[in-house]
Amino acid sequence: MNADELRSKFIDFFIAKGHVRIEGKSLLPDNDPTVLFTTAGMHPLVPYLLGEEHPAGRRLTDYQKCIRTGDIESVGDGSHLTFFEMLGNWSLGDYFKEGAIGMSFEFLTSPRWLGIPLEKLGVTVFEGRGDIERDEESAAVWKSLGIPENRIAYLPWEDNFWGPAGSTGPCGPDSEMFYYVGEAPCGPECKPGCSCGKWLEIWNDVFMQYNKTVPGDDGAPGIYEPLARTCVDTGMGIERTVTILNGKASVYDTDIFAPIIAGIEKAAGRAYGDDPARDVSIRIIADHIRSAAFILGDPRAVSPSNVGAGYVLRRLVRRAVRHGRRLGMPFPLLSPIAGIVIEKMRGPYPELERNRAFITTELDNEEAKFLETLQKGEREFEKLLPNLKKDPRKIIPGRLAFMLYDTYGFPIELTQELAGEHGMTVNREEFDLAFKKHQELSRSQGGQAFKGGLGDQGEMAVKYHTATHLLHKALRMVLGDHVAQKGSNITAERMRFDFSHNAPMTRDEIGKVQDIVNGQIEKDLPVTMAVMSLEDARAAGAVALFGEKYESRVKVYTIGDGSSGIFSREVCGGPHVERTGTMGTFVIQKEQSSSAGVRRIRAVLEQGNEQGAGRL
Ligand code: ALA
Repeated sequence: MNADELRSKFIDFFIAKGHVRIEGKSLLPDNDPTVLFTTAGMHPLVPYLLGEEHPAGRRLTDYQKCIRTGDIESVGDGSHLTFFEMLGNWSLGDYFKEGAIGMSFEFLTSPRWLGIPLEKLGVTVFEGRGDIERDEESAAVWKSLGIPENRIAYLPWEDNFWGPAGSTGPCGPDSEMFYYVGEAPCGPECKPGCSCGKWLEIWNDVFMQYNKTVPGDDGAPGIYEPLARTCVDTGMGIERTVTILNGKASVYDTDIFAPIIAGIEKAAGRAYGDDPARDVSIRIIADHIRSAAFILGDPRAVSPSNVGAGYVLRRLVRRAVRHGRRLGMPFPLLSPIAGIVIEKMRGPYPELERNRAFITTELDNEEAKFLETLQKGEREFEKLLPNLKKDPRKIIPGRLAFMLYDTYGFPIELTQELAGEHGMTVNREEFDLAFKKHQELSRSQGGQAFKGGLGDQGEMAVKYHTATHLLHKALRMVLGDHVAQKGSNITAERMRFDFSHNAPMTRDEIGKVQDIVNGQIEKDLPVTMAVMSLEDARAAGAVALFGEKYESRVKVYTIGDGSSGIFSREVCGGPHVERTGTMGTFVIQKEQSSSAGVRRIRAVLEQGNEQGAGRL
């Protein structure tokens, strides 16, 4: 069974069971500053799992593109992927454990659907903890369907309590389904979920019973409040399931990767499967280009940058280039392989085809930029070499390796490689320490960038960024202090701003907000920045996003001063214009619903002298 067949079968099965097929959503989540990418099928459904009514009803099914980069260093081993598709079915206050498990069982075992023999299946259920009881209910349902007792394992919190996706949100005990590829148990303790490698997880039914409202910290478990309405969230990874159903050892041996790997083999003039080290490179290139194509092909695409999702994209691209270079692939190496990804995936994801030109251009540009970086780094290394060679221990200080990384973007692996060629090593510990500090910084900036969506820090993007502060304040003045920024997205052409508010704005309110913003622009207010502790920032009345992770010292941007009056003060990563008078005319083009309880404004800054033009 190939990926397309599995995808269709799953959706058809759940439609036959009274579910409505909904569209998967963007890879770049809206309104969620806690994550950079959509990591599970349930992610876009969080408000509905928490109780909102979904317009399509209470039984839903879809396939969702996901990215998880936590294991990026493990990609190359044959099973880890950064991009994957998740199939899901949801009950929003409709069926619960019995219904979900019954349907999972039927889809897995019925000859009409996957037809997996019973002896190949095993399941796990939650063993219970504290107030949350041992899941005898799920176990009993599995038993009644014919799963023998020794194929039902009770596992602890770490294994069988799922979620939330970010630091807070819906979560609950789950029941996972495993495919057994062994002949005999690895020992007396071997049971579903055993890490012997013989039990492969294919599906997860989560029984959403709680809303984690307060994230745990320092060993504290956080606060779990029971949901008024229990829900079911399930997730089946397409890549993994296709691998298992076809008896393959690696996801890279499936139809999903076959054309991509063939393309890499052809470009590199080397066969996959011939050499373990080369195979690692081929797998990394295949996975990373697939992820990069999907990020760039998304309606909310970001470009490679040094912050947030753009930084992840840059990392994926650069790792792929490095490995491609190692294989001797001709340049440009990324875009032709991305073309194969588009061909393969454009059926279920037509956005890839629509954005083909953008994907190609961005990949080519980033690749060219990185090659320049590599050449500069190599030249710099050569310059340092005579001095480095004087060290009798032949150790390159970590801070020098970090300088090459930080200043030239020169990857540590390449510094190590070059060092090796000259009989030297790098003080990796010292490098890691410097790198960790840097990462903490970019993570905090990542949050900020996500908030501002500032992939592009061109002149217009900076103006729009300041406009979000003016708009935020104006909305609070006109609608009330309940208004909080939920997200924003900026390009050189326009801004989008999402904020909490329960009703459509009236024309009068929109007009007032627009006039307030333009009034502040006309006053030509100065914009100043100060670095202070978060407590001082709050004490100074700065607006900080609730739930956002900030460093202990933060930047605070103030618009206006003592003589003009302070109009707005926000904790923010910047950058901003120096004076508002340079921004042009602010025009709200659209005000609409974004999601439950969240409104979205689209606005532009008109440049030039057409004051007052473009009224709503
Ligand atoms: N949300 C669940 C998962 O990602 C189904 O495994």
